[in-house]
Amino acid sequence: MSANYEQLAADGLEQIGAPTARGQLDQIAQQAAAAGWSYSHFLGRLLEPELAARRQRVIDICLSFSGLPWKKRLSDFDFSFQPSIDRTLIEELATGRFMTEGRNIIFQGPPGVGKTHLAIALGLVCSEAGQRLLFLTALDLVRRMKLAFAQNRMPHFLKMLTTPKLLIVDEVGYLGLDTQQASLLFQVICVRYEKQLSTIITSNKAFADWGQVFAGDPIMASAALDRLLHRATVINIKGDSYRLREKRLAGLFPGAIALDHTQKGVIPTTKLRSPRR
Ligand SMILES: Nc1ncnc2c1ncn2[C@@H]1O[C@H](COP(=O)(O)OP(=O)(O)OP(=O)(O)O)[C@@H](O)[C@H]1O
Ligand SMILES: [Mg+2]
Repeated sequence: MSANYEQLAADGLEQIGAPTARGQLDQIAQQAAAAGWSYSHFLGRLLEPELAARRQRVIDICLSFSGLPWKKRLSDFDFSFQPSIDRTLIEELATGRFMTEGRNIIFQGPPGVGKTHLAIALGLVCSEAGQRLLFLTALDLVRRMKLAFAQNRMPHFLKMLTTPKLLIVDEVGYLGLDTQQASLLFQVICVRYEKQLSTIITSNKAFADWGQVFAGDPIMASAALDRLLHRATVINIKGDSYRLREKRLAGLFPGAIALDHTQKGVIPTTKLRSPRR
């Protein structure tokens, strides 16, 4: 009789979709018998690895759909190289509270100062909490929008951008948008603002120059900024490119690299692109 129930326990766990608990059942049952655990203690010990495995599966799915180009964490970030960044503020953002509050984050600064790195590190916080994240560059946005338009899938595309808990749009400003593209970005910002969903934007452009980003339309730019900045943390990074530091250390640029920061402190006159990581 008891052997039947043991089999039922094993089969039942399989049937209700708890393969991890099924795999550990015999071992945990033996531990329970040896240590004289209570029934609820045994059940808790059996469920623990099952729930952990489920959480991990959700995280893996979130990461695989996130579009993150690579994994970078705050622990990989050398704050001493970029003293203009308030480390305490970044660490506070990494608690993920900004997402619960529907706050946006704008990283501004010249090339190579770590805007994408920090955006990715915060994106990982979202995925690892089992929340949906979508990362894309402004260029991806334009490419995918053209495709969606050609395939008559614009409503689906808009939904894809306006449902994730966190949307990261990287490299806004390196590419001027045409009217249609600017108006899509504007719609995305409006919908996410209404839904109180957080957006992270990285940009080389000062806000005063966002008219150029929005198809030369300062009215649309200021309406977008009004919504974005209503609940936002703006991190303006002033400093040297970490990429060039690496190259300098490798002896490729023996001299000092002079980047021409404007009075706004964010825009170099030339964008020195190094090959992607
Ligand atoms: N302070 C830092 N500590 C460690 N790595 C850094 C730091 N700053 C940047 N990096 C690394 O340097 C490279 C360039 O950084 P990142 O791509 O984040 O720059 P960016 O500001 O987004 O530049 P761009 O405007 O050109 O996109 C990345 O590999 C990033 O991980
Ligand atoms: Mg970047």
